Amino acid sequence: MQIYIEENYEKMSQKAAEIIAEKIKSNPALILGLATGSTPIRTYEILAEKYKKGELDFSRIKTFNLDDYLGLDFNDPQSYHQFMRKNFFSKINIDLKNAFFPNDFGSDYEKYENKIKESGGIDLQVVGIGRNGHIGFNEPGSAFDFYTREVELDETTIKDNSRFFDDISQVPKRAATMGIATIMNAKQILLLANGENKKEIIYQALKGPITEKVPASILQKHQNVIVVLDNEAGEKIKT
Ligand code: GLP
Repeated sequence: MQIYIEENYEKMSQKAAEIIAEKIKSNPALILGLATGSTPIRTYEILAEKYKKGELDFSRIKTFNLDDYLGLDFNDPQSYHQFMRKNFFSKINIDLKNAFFPNDFGSDYEKYENKIKESGGIDLQVVGIGRNGHIGFNEPGSAFDFYTREVELDETTIKDNSRFFDDISQVPKRAATMGIATIMNAKQILLLANGENKKEIIYQALKGPITEKVPASILQKHQNVIVVLDNEAGEKIKT
């Protein structure tokens, strides 16, 4: 596991964008796993800036998103389909036919897994981390051998994500997510975290025991993980 602790959110985002950009340059048909949440927003912006400058081409890229809420229309501004369009896809030359989400095939989640397999598997999976250690929407207690499926969201997650909604009652309670096994099958994983409120869970995930209680702790077993943190999120693992 390679760990970079950058000075601040901007530097963290630049580092992450550089890592992704280099992968795309060396493989223009890269299969890229993507995450939502506030953490990767600036990374996506920097990648879009690189595209605008003519440094990157996304026309042959395929993307697979980690998760999306269930019960929202794909056009709902809160859906992760729209999140990706707004924060990334509308700013680059990706062919939207090549951008996939776990709920694209109704509840046929095997079809999503097959799409990933047919594409040759995910080359680089970007993941964030929830304060409770979730990756994607794999909440504490999720078995490590689960693939893409429907899940119920934890109270912590509903509370954390309510900041994006007018009212906590509007936060969906169910979601579709890649499983831990799906994520672990990626050839390389890029974990991003920033902010003081992530320092404890980053410590548990990277330095604590590997346990289903902290889903992200399984990343310790992956052969090719890059972690990029800002100073605040990295504070506890440095000591
Ligand atoms: C959300 C997403 C995760 C994301 C995490 C952290 O619920 N499902 O994929 O990594 O929570 O979000 P944030 O980056 O806003 O802290």
